[in-house]
Amino acid sequence: MFEKHGVPVLAGATATTPQQAREAAEAIGPKSGGVTVVKAQVKTGGRGKAGGVKVAKSADEAQQHAQAILGMDIKGHTVGTVMIAQGARIAEEYYFSVLLDRANRSYLAMCSKEGGMEIEQLAVERPEALARIAVDPNTGIDAAKAAEIVEAAGFDAETGAKIAPVLEKLWEVYRDEDATLVEVNPLVKTEDGDIVALDGKVTLDANADFRHPDHEALEDKAAADPLEAAAKEKGLNYVKLDGSVGIIGNGAGLVMSTLDVVAYAGEEFAGSPKPANFLDIGGGASAEVMANGLHIILGDAQVKSVFVNVFGGITSCDAVANGIVGALNALGDEATKPLVVRLDGNNVEEGRRILAEANHPLVTIEETMDGAARKAAELASAATN
Ligand SMILES: Nc1ncnc2c1ncn2[C@@H]1O[C@H](COP(=O)(O)OP(=O)(O)OP(=O)(O)O)[C@@H](O)[C@H]1O
Ligand SMILES: [Mg+2]
Repeated sequence: MFEKHGVPVLAGATATTPQQAREAAEAIGPKSGGVTVVKAQVKTGGRGKAGGVKVAKSADEAQQHAQAILGMDIKGHTVGTVMIAQGARIAEEYYFSVLLDRANRSYLAMCSKEGGMEIEQLAVERPEALARIAVDPNTGIDAAKAAEIVEAAGFDAETGAKIAPVLEKLWEVYRDEDATLVEVNPLVKTEDGDIVALDGKVTLDANADFRHPDHEALEDKAAADPLEAAAKEKGLNYVKLDGSVGIIGNGAGLVMSTLDVVAYAGEEFAGSPKPANFLDIGGGASAEVMANGLHIILGDAQVKSVFVNVFGGITSCDAVANGIVGALNALGDEATKPLVVRLDGNNVEEGRRILAEANHPLVTIEETMDGAARKAAELASAATN
């Protein structure tokens, strides 16, 4: 991505086996005096500290390092791929990032002459060493803004003049790829005086995915939670959490408050059951959408009870009730956990009547949100304790 926007980077290739790593080092090494760096490809920082970044002086050594790094666990991420990068002869390490600054409704650029180390630590211990410059989204980082940033970071004129154009390119990455973070640590000056981005982290705004079909190829499907991946495939808005009460609701606001109410109600019961997920099935709670949602939630072994909290608006409660009954029929033996259902709003009487008539052994109907939250928490607690 950096390369595409003209940010200076070193040659690199990825490998999933030590043999591939050796071949990559044989191809890339000669460009940098035979020296390569083997780097764990995991979506977390601090790889170097964890032993996931190692310099290799030969293709043999690159193969050995790849052997050691592949399969390594770094902060809960298993290394499945390594990058073999050209070795840099580093003179100095700097830091640069641009990110979304929600508090100030703006963008923020941060820059420091002291890169390489953990920037969070620098920000706490010596905040004066980290320049923070607001970036107007309408003008971004143009030549004037880049000059302002390097000056604030305290670079001498010569180095600053070399870095500034790279910052403009990094801004292009941020803007054109719809990122919410572009961070380079370290941005280095080599012994030859060239500026190179040696390590990059980019967070892409998923809301802009529709504009970037090419971003899908960057997704690390193996690292994603399998339930979240399955939900995404079905177009469901699902986030896995750690508790035991599965949650289904319509509308993000209602689901958010359902999480709060369940967490609060759970405190009364043994083991303090908490929400197992966020799942917003949106406006049209059809049998199919309901079945997809239940299928995902029941696939989570930690779930002991499910709370279905629906407010009938455009979709009336009778349609939702039919959706629930239809989903339970469709799921058959797969539905094994108790369901607490609270319906309210448009055509609620008919909705409750449909559920009562279906008389499904797993379903409990509750009239209020608080009552339903208590019931769901109680059932989850009883199943675990
Ligand atoms: N291609 C390279 N050539 C020489 N040294 C390198 C190269 N890549 C990385 N290094 C060195 O290894 C250190 C750590 O590498 P890198 O920043 O890529 O990983 P990291 O530890 O995960 O960083 P972060 O915590 O910022 O995510 C760098 O600060 C740099 O000193
Ligand atoms: Mg780094």
